[in-house]
Amino acid sequence: MFVNEMKLQNKTVLVTGAAGFIGANLVKRLCANAKDCRVIGIDNLNDYYDVRLKETRLAELQSFDNFLFVKGNIADKSIIISLFDTYKPQVVVNLAAQAGVRYSIENPDAYIESNIVGFFNILEACRFHPVEHLVYASSSSVYGSNASIPYSTEDKADSPVSLYAATKKSNELMAHAYSKLYNIPSTGLRFFTVYGPAGRPDMAYFGFTNKLLQGETIEIFNYGNCQRDFTYVDDIIEGIMRVMQSPPERATGEDGLPIPPYRVYNIGNNKPENLLDFVNILQEELIRANVLPKDYDFEAHKKLVPMQPGDVPITYADTSALTRDFGFKPATPLREGIRKFAEWYYEFYLSK
Ligand SMILES: NC(=O)c1ccc[n+]([C@@H]2O[C@H](COP(=O)([O-])OP(=O)(O)OC[C@H]3O[C@@H](n4cnc5c(N)ncnc54)[C@H](O)[C@@H]3O)[C@@H](O)[C@H]2O)c1
Repeated sequence: MFVNEMKLQNKTVLVTGAAGFIGANLVKRLCANAKDCRVIGIDNLNDYYDVRLKETRLAELQSFDNFLFVKGNIADKSIIISLFDTYKPQVVVNLAAQAGVRYSIENPDAYIESNIVGFFNILEACRFHPVEHLVYASSSSVYGSNASIPYSTEDKADSPVSLYAATKKSNELMAHAYSKLYNIPSTGLRFFTVYGPAGRPDMAYFGFTNKLLQGETIEIFNYGNCQRDFTYVDDIIEGIMRVMQSPPERATGEDGLPIPPYRVYNIGNNKPENLLDFVNILQEELIRANVLPKDYDFEAHKKLVPMQPGDVPITYADTSALTRDFGFKPATPLREGIRKFAEWYYEFYLSK
């Protein structure tokens, strides 16, 4: 376990992507639990998916006195510099990014802008306004065509199969260089298929629900022979909270130069689920939550299709380093998490 624990009291935390799925959940947890800490959120509220969801998440956050929101693009250097000049955050959690594997095939520019230029701006700001800890979202997609499972941060992970994955791996490399050059404590977190209430509509559990409700057919890739390490959002938030309070220690090497205070962890459920089992659980929970009727003909709305470009057959997180260093491992069972999603979906879209 880490000993250099940092308290968040009286600190300023900058969360980028604050109106996003993970960002909003993190801000909520921070504002509710660490009352003496000030949270600054930035998000450009782009329309990659239904902006109403981002606005709803944000509306909930605005009720916290210790939260301040700035609408802006992290790829705009002047905005980032002015944010750091004004608020001088001690901790930065970079979650803003263009997410999604498939969209990176249609719209690669968005990934370079947000994930490369945006992240570079954050790094530069941390260089000139030294922070105690920079935490940033990486992704399980960096493992690409990794042959060995479970995926370990010890694996090489240099064969990305999508531009999204390549930008996330680039973030890790850029962070390493800045940690070494400017002694910035940084931790990259490789999240594995995060799901939960008010999640992202481009992800399978949400997209399938929308389609089934509209009577459309859902496509199950690789003929159902896929496995995903589904990780419930509260487990991700617990992981981020623990990690952000334990920056890697600064130390000097024999050459008199900094040993990069740099780490990367997986945060995943460590329990991959077969896609067909996942679809069965989703069906059952959608009926239980009254999203779909009891007699819904699921078989008529399912199609098994080949693998899509950019996809991988399995994701499976080795979480031993997370457990070793932070005494924590995600554990929410898929059914429990999907149940919360289905109940939220009913409330948000169907109860009025
Ligand atoms: N959800 C997952 O399964 C998952 C898995 C692996 C990694 N991640 C990573 O975690 C982070 C958060 O993901 P999420 O699921 O909450 O996605 P999300 O799309 O809900 O959140 C990202 C937020 O960032 C904002 N944003 C995007 N580009 C921006 C820019 N240039 N300037 C300012 N704001 C910008 C978006 O408006 C959005 O609100 C991302 O970096 C994502 O790549 C997510």
